[in-house]
Amino acid sequence: MNKDLSNIKKSRHLLDKGECIAIPTETVYGLAANAYSDKATSKIFKLKKRLKKNPLIVHYVSLKMLKNDCKLNENFFYLFKKFSPGPITFILKLKKNSKISKNVTNNKKTLAVRFPKHILTKKLLQKLNYPIAAPSANISTRISPVTKEDVIEEFGKKIKFVLDGGSSKIGLESTIISLVNKPQILRLGGLEVSKINKALKTKLKFNRKNKKITVPGQGKVHYSPGIPIRLNIKKPKINEAFMLIKKRKLSDKNYYYLSKRKNLKEAAKKLYKTLRMIKKKKFKSIAVEKIPSVGFGEVINDRLIRASKF
Ligand code: TXA
Ligand code: MG
Repeated sequence: MNKDLSNIKKSRHLLDKGECIAIPTETVYGLAANAYSDKATSKIFKLKKRLKKNPLIVHYVSLKMLKNDCKLNENFFYLFKKFSPGPITFILKLKKNSKISKNVTNNKKTLAVRFPKHILTKKLLQKLNYPIAAPSANISTRISPVTKEDVIEEFGKKIKFVLDGGSSKIGLESTIISLVNKPQILRLGGLEVSKINKALKTKLKFNRKNKKITVPGQGKVHYSPGIPIRLNIKKPKINEAFMLIKKRKLSDKNYYYLSKRKNLKEAAKKLYKTLRMIKKKKFKSIAVEKIPSVGFGEVINDRLIRASKF
C-alpha cells in the first residue's frame, strides 16, 4: 500500500482511539486530537504544558460539519470562498448544541476554526466523523515546528505518531480574524491582512498594543529560542548569531540568511527553522538585521518581538 495512505490509516486509528498525534499543515505542524472528546483534548494540554484557559483551533474539511458547531455569517462565507482551505482562522459563535469539548473553548461561546490545505491532513479529515483540535505542535511558548523532526525534538517519545507531510510550505501560523462582531485581526500570520482588506473592502489593521484584543495564547512571551534577540542590528557582537535577509559581500560562519534577496515570503518560511538551528549552537544571543514591516515582514517582526521577550 502507498506509504501516505497507510500513515493516514494509522493516524485515523489513533485519533479514533482518543490519542494525540501530530499532523502536517501548510502553516506549521499541529498537535491533533478529536475535538468532540474531553479525554482526547485534555491530552493536548498535558503534552504541550498549555494553560487550560488558552482555547484551541479546530480544523475542518467540510462546511457541513462546521455548520453543526458554529453560526456562520456573511463575512465568513465571503472569506471562506476566497481563502479556504488556507492560512486563515476564523473566530465564530459557537452553537448551543455543538459537540465541541469544553476543553477546546475553555467554556467560552466562540470557536476558532480553520480549513487546512495540506493534502494529507485534508485526506485524514475526510475520513473522520469529528473535526480535530490542533494547536501548534510545540511545548507552550517555544518555537512552532515546521517538520516532523521538529515535532520529535519537542516531544520525543511522548508523542504516539507524527504524520509526515514534509516541510510546512508557509512556515508561520495562520492569520486569525474574529468575525463574532465587527471583523478584527487577532493575530498576524500566513495570509496577508492586505488581501483580507481587499476581499472585505475594509481597512483592518493589526494593533499589538490594543488591550481589547484578547487572544489568550498571544502573550508577550512566545516563539522563544531561549536566548536574547536584538532587532534592527547593523553589526553583530562576538558570540552572536546574525540573521539576515540580504546577501552581504563578506559572510561569516555566524551569519544565517532568511533570504539572500530580501524576499520576505522566503524569509518567513525559514524563520522558525533558522531560530531552531541557532538554538542548537552555543550562541549567547541573536542579532537580526532590520526587516521592513510590510507584508510578511510585519509578521516576521511580530514573531521576533515576542520571541525577544523571553
Ligand atoms: O496555523 C495555525 O493556526 C496552527 C495550525 C496547526 O493550524 N495552529 C496554531 O494554534 O497556531 P495555536 O494554538 O498555537 O494558536 C492559536 C491561537 C492561540 O493564541 C489561541 O489563544 C487563539 O488562537 N484562540 C483559540 N480560540 C480562540 C477564540 N475562541 N478566541 C480568540 N482566540 C482564540
Ligand atoms: Mg502556538
